[in-house]
Amino acid sequence: MMICFLQTLLLLGAQLVLSGTSLTAHTVPNNFFYHNFLSGNGNKGIHFSDVKLHVDSAQSSVFAVRGGNATLPCRFWYESEVSSPREVRIKWSWLPTAGGHWTDVLVAIDSHSRSFGEFRGRVQLRQDFPGDAALLMTELQLNDTGRYRCEVVDGLEDKSTVIHLELRGVVFPYQHPHGRYHLSFLGAQQVCEEQDSSLATFTQLFQSWKEGLNWCNAGWLSDGTVQYPITRPRVPCGGHGLAPGVRSYGRRHLHLHRYDVFCFSSSLRGRVYYLQPSHKMNLTEAQQVCQESGAQIAKVGQLYAAWKFKGLDHCEAGWLADGSVRYAIIRPRKNCGPPEPGVRSFGFPPPQHKHGVYCYKSDDE
Ligand SMILES: *[C@@H]1O[C@H](CO)[C@@H](O)[C@H](O)[C@H]1NC(C)=O
Ligand SMILES: *[C@@H]1O[C@H](CO)[C@@H](O)[C@H](O)[C@H]1NC(C)=O
Ligand SMILES: *[C@@H]1O[C@H](CO)[C@@H](O)[C@H](O)[C@H]1NC(C)=O
Repeated sequence: MMICFLQTLLLLGAQLVLSGTSLTAHTVPNNFFYHNFLSGNGNKGIHFSDVKLHVDSAQSSVFAVRGGNATLPCRFWYESEVSSPREVRIKWSWLPTAGGHWTDVLVAIDSHSRSFGEFRGRVQLRQDFPGDAALLMTELQLNDTGRYRCEVVDGLEDKSTVIHLELRGVVFPYQHPHGRYHLSFLGAQQVCEEQDSSLATFTQLFQSWKEGLNWCNAGWLSDGTVQYPITRPRVPCGGHGLAPGVRSYGRRHLHLHRYDVFCFSSSLRGRVYYLQPSHKMNLTEAQQVCQESGAQIAKVGQLYAAWKFKGLDHCEAGWLADGSVRYAIIRPRKNCGPPEPGVRSFGFPPPQHKHGVYCYKSDDE
């Protein structure tokens, strides 16, 4: 008989614990028995029905730049006052924009914390006020974007909230030196990295489309889809009948299918400058002359970043690291290309052709 009664209480207890997020001590008539049962059983330190934990964030998205810092806000509090300090476990995890799975960023209990993997030494908890669980991130990298989950655990209470981290930057279309539609997905990833950038995410391409990017060649994005942004509909780009927008071919085969790519670059530490000694240079000489001035021939992503973030505006074409020839214009003018600002490209001329060069010098060189 007694056993039977205990079982009933156990079941009742289990139900209360399971539904503990929506029921409170004041609305559940059976709560009294539940309490007695637990304390009678010596379960000290576990206060199932006393606390109701809340977690939220002041912002659902945070924008930052490469190399910069970001604060991802998160705070927790209790619905009713708690008398003594409580031990909570705070855990931040990350879901990369390109997909994959949630991975650990940081775990903290009291003043002890541990960071993991790529985040080691770059993240810490802010803890400016009671309940502050904001994550401070430094030295942001292009591939840090994605969803960050702030999870707070107190006994059986387990609440979380998600914040998006986005980088401000610039998306640029990139073609293989051999021409249009030569890149597999992996090839696309590689050329972006070689040009100091990363495969653009859909969010980044969409943002660039809103800022006016109009490009009629389809390119890979980080999620394995192939898309292109059209602001002025025309016949070869989906036709006049289609509204402006980002056109998608959907997911393509990562190895078999070949397209161009959209790369993403963010702010730049250091500077890009045009160099032209007494005479113009072939590609080999261009690489050398940058090195002789304590710099390196600039990569395409660096030229775009300098244009977007440092106002690079120079109306002379110069060699870049990939063997292409380009220049960047902020204030469009006569003999400097189309009437919109942008980076102008002359493709990949034969390496013996003579031009100036764009060099990149990082801050620490
Ligand atoms: C980022 O934060 C670190 C220390 O928290 C600081 O030294 C550094 O100047 C900050 N960087 C920027 C770009 O604000
Ligand atoms: C992210 O970028 C950094 C710097 O470019 C690189 O060292 C790291 O391997 C990248 N991480 C991943 C998961 O791709
Ligand atoms: C560039 O010119 C140098 C001579 O100044 C020559 O040795 C080199 O082979 C040339 N490189 C190319 C790619 O034409």
